[in-house]
Amino acid sequence: MIPKLIISISLVYLISPVICYIDIRADGDDSDNGSFNIRLNRQKTAFEQHLNNAHILKKHNIDFYSLYKKHHHKANNRTNDSIALYRYIDNEFYGKIVIGHPGQTLNVAFDTAWSLSWVLSSECSGSFSLTNIGCLFHNTYNHKRSSEYRPDGRKIVVPDGNSELSGYFSFDNISIAHSNVTDFSFVEMTKVPFNLLFSKIDGVLGLGLQNDAYKPFFYTLLDQGKIKEPIFTVYLNRDKQSDHGGNVIMGFIEMRHVHSRKGPNNETIYDPIKYMPVKPGYLWQFDLDSVYIANASGPIIRFCTSGKCNAITDTSSNNILGPPADIEAIHAAMEAKPFYLNRSTVNCDTINKLPVINFTIGGQDFMLKGRDYTVKLSYLSITICLSAFVPHDYTDFWVLGGAFLSEYYTIYNVQDKRIGIVKAA
Ligand SMILES: *[C@@H]1O[C@H](CO)[C@@H](O)[C@H](O)[C@H]1NC(C)=O
Ligand SMILES: *[C@@H]1O[C@H](CO)[C@@H](O)[C@H](O)[C@H]1NC(C)=O
Ligand SMILES: *[C@@H]1O[C@H](CO)[C@@H](O)[C@H](O)[C@H]1NC(C)=O
Ligand SMILES: *[C@@H]1O[C@H](CO)[C@@H](O)[C@H](O)[C@H]1NC(C)=O
Ligand SMILES: *[C@@H]1O[C@H](CO)[C@@H](O)[C@H](O)[C@H]1NC(C)=O
Ligand SMILES: *[C@@H]1O[C@H](CO)[C@@H](O)[C@H](O)[C@H]1NC(C)=O
Ligand SMILES: *[C@@H]1O[C@H](CO)[C@@H](O)[C@H](O)[C@H]1NC(C)=O
Ligand SMILES: *[C@@H]1O[C@H](CO)[C@@H](O)[C@H](O)[C@H]1NC(C)=O
Ligand SMILES: *[C@@H]1O[C@H](CO)[C@@H](O)[C@H](O)[C@H]1NC(C)=O
Repeated sequence: MIPKLIISISLVYLISPVICYIDIRADGDDSDNGSFNIRLNRQKTAFEQHLNNAHILKKHNIDFYSLYKKHHHKANNRTNDSIALYRYIDNEFYGKIVIGHPGQTLNVAFDTAWSLSWVLSSECSGSFSLTNIGCLFHNTYNHKRSSEYRPDGRKIVVPDGNSELSGYFSFDNISIAHSNVTDFSFVEMTKVPFNLLFSKIDGVLGLGLQNDAYKPFFYTLLDQGKIKEPIFTVYLNRDKQSDHGGNVIMGFIEMRHVHSRKGPNNETIYDPIKYMPVKPGYLWQFDLDSVYIANASGPIIRFCTSGKCNAITDTSSNNILGPPADIEAIHAAMEAKPFYLNRSTVNCDTINKLPVINFTIGGQDFMLKGRDYTVKLSYLSITICLSAFVPHDYTDFWVLGGAFLSEYYTIYNVQDKRIGIVKAA
């Protein structure tokens, strides 16, 4: 299990306005050239800081909770079998589902890196203890309020980095956009890591592959005849200022998201989709030939030279995760500076001059430019440019999140077990 929850959530923690407000110490001043270095100190756990900060902020009439809630979006736009995704401080992508009858609405990550679907249980909220603080300020699912709930009760513990989630299985209806499934098996989590507090999501709709007896959501949708084609596609909006994070499209390839050009007779010629077979397991995992820094002028720096590199996509976070030494070298080439929680920043003025990074998949190069793999964040007078590259603890393994998926539309075929990648339009 990849400890992705921790990794993706740490960024929300990192950039959540209050934390920045309290913790950022500018080493340099806000000079004419617009650049400065920012150092963050971390002495306490996120939880302790959160409490301390909430207290200090109150004195300044800043309410963490109202700031936090400002990012709750009420819109529920949906088109056909296409679920609108929203963006939370440019890190998490989430959409809405409705569970039970009458329906309870929750925000979930539509996540290609989980097979299991889970939501926060109403049994995990209310009181104030370390095991349920993560459930605070979230929507939760209360099975007692659903006439369609069917108990299962089998317990489950899901490790996630240094912590874990635990709960039990239940059945209920789930609706997404225009499709719904009945008697779907999912987990109600009663204990979650405390840093879920800083996340927007109330759960995960697992878009991973079926790997055991558990039938993931998409398979249930297919089995119950709600969609015909065994594919879903993920489009993430490149416009980072937009709340509209993208769409998960069930059952078809939306050609308007595929990059095209005009042919000699003014006909539309779409870029060909690069299909890769996926490996056994629940992840959409495929061969990655190479990752390289491809400066026009500078020398090419190559990673993933073992010939056995793998990649997966991660539709829930913005980051690109790779082996620590590789990420370090990439950051050196970017002249990035260490920031906080393994994140690095670049000088915002240099984004257009940053090296191009190519991912070679099935012999084809997929290119990312500086503006694609950096995120500009502003709070009060402070602006930082954060690199989307983050180290993890695995060798020969890369996780391609939103920074990649905003440039490349992905197609997931559960029947043929292949993933398609094409330049997004
Ligand atoms: C911008 O100014 C700061 C402080 O004056 C200096 O340290 C830094 O090197 C300058 N950066 C560039 C890109 O000129
Ligand atoms: C979505 O549905 C509308 C009408 O309900 C239809 O006109 C349109 O073609 C559909 N789009 C796709 C991509 O299926
Ligand atoms: C839940 O399933 C029942 C039984 O199939 C159905 O009658 C009901 O409309 C469904 N409710 C929702 C909210 O999908
Ligand atoms: C869900 O399915 C039931 C029948 O199974 C149907 O009556 C209901 O309208 C559906 N709800 C949605 C939101 O599609
Ligand atoms: C969502 O709906 C709201 C109100 O109906 C509309 O203002 C907004 O533009 C829509 N957003 C998208 C991304 O379609
Ligand atoms: C090409 O097609 C577009 C519409 O698809 C049209 O607006 C444009 O005028 C056409 N150009 C030529 C040269 O025919
Ligand atoms: C890429 O180009 C920039 C500017 O030309 C240069 O500063 C940087 O060192 C180069 N990086 C690599 C890895 O070649
Ligand atoms: C930073 O990354 C290293 C692996 O490179 C990992 O062992 C460590 O736990 C990470 N630290 C944090 C705070 O995520
Ligand atoms: C990087 O990939 C792009 C295509 O996405 C290609 O045009 C470019 O030549 C590649 N760079 C190098 C150095 O091969």
